Amino acid sequence: MKIVDLGASSSVINCFMAQLRDVNTQTNRTLFRGNLRRIAHAMAYEVSRMLDYSVKNIQTPLAVKEVPTYDDRIVVGTVLRAGLAFHEGFLDVFDGADAAFLSAYREEGKADDIKIHIEYIAAPHLDGSTFLLVDPMLATGGSLELAYQAFLSKGKPAKLHICCVIASRQGIERLQHAFPGDDVTLWVAAIDPQLNDRAYIVPGLGDAGDLSFGEKQ
Ligand code: PRP
Ligand code: URA
Repeated sequence: MKIVDLGASSSVINCFMAQLRDVNTQTNRTLFRGNLRRIAHAMAYEVSRMLDYSVKNIQTPLAVKEVPTYDDRIVVGTVLRAGLAFHEGFLDVFDGADAAFLSAYREEGKADDIKIHIEYIAAPHLDGSTFLLVDPMLATGGSLELAYQAFLSKGKPAKLHICCVIASRQGIERLQHAFPGDDVTLWVAAIDPQLNDRAYIVPGLGDAGDLSFGEKQ
């Protein structure tokens, strides 16, 4: 698996990250979801550079112009519920993409014994698609790995891009094990060093689902 860390060089992405992490700004839910969406826009632009393009003849009001546009059949898949705002940002950019959803929740517990439950899946057929699996938090990596296995029941994508906002080192290691080849790319806006004993990313940002939508019971 190839890893691209968009936060490693200075860009406005790090300004969005600062607002997501900061306890003084992250409590504004609209801003929090907006920053996830803005990071998705920037990341989608980078992913778009990896697609396959062919030249199309575009009729303007005055003449025909040759314009290269991508030919990939993009499907953007996410994990409910923290992934929703991030997902929306990718759909803003890839306006013709299909969307795929899956529910997964982590049964809270000790980091080495987190159980993940998948109960709902709605996806188009994935055979031959360019599949963008997007979820803001890659902590243990369990949700993403199980989500991808579940999405495979809908067909085998031709290309896979995994897009996250913050990835822990442990989560990256798990995905590297699951995707040993370099045909899969993991895009992140930050890599954080550790998980705490409840499998939250440290320093991280806290609970992305609760910050987006409120604390769940
Ligand atoms: C978050 C996030 C990931 C998962 C990552 O969802 O959206 O799906 O945690 O953790 P993992 O890498 O250890 O599996 P969460 O379980 O908090 O659910 P929520 O979206 O309902 O808040
Ligand atoms: N899910 C989150 O929302 N945050 C973490 O740090 C880990 C999982």
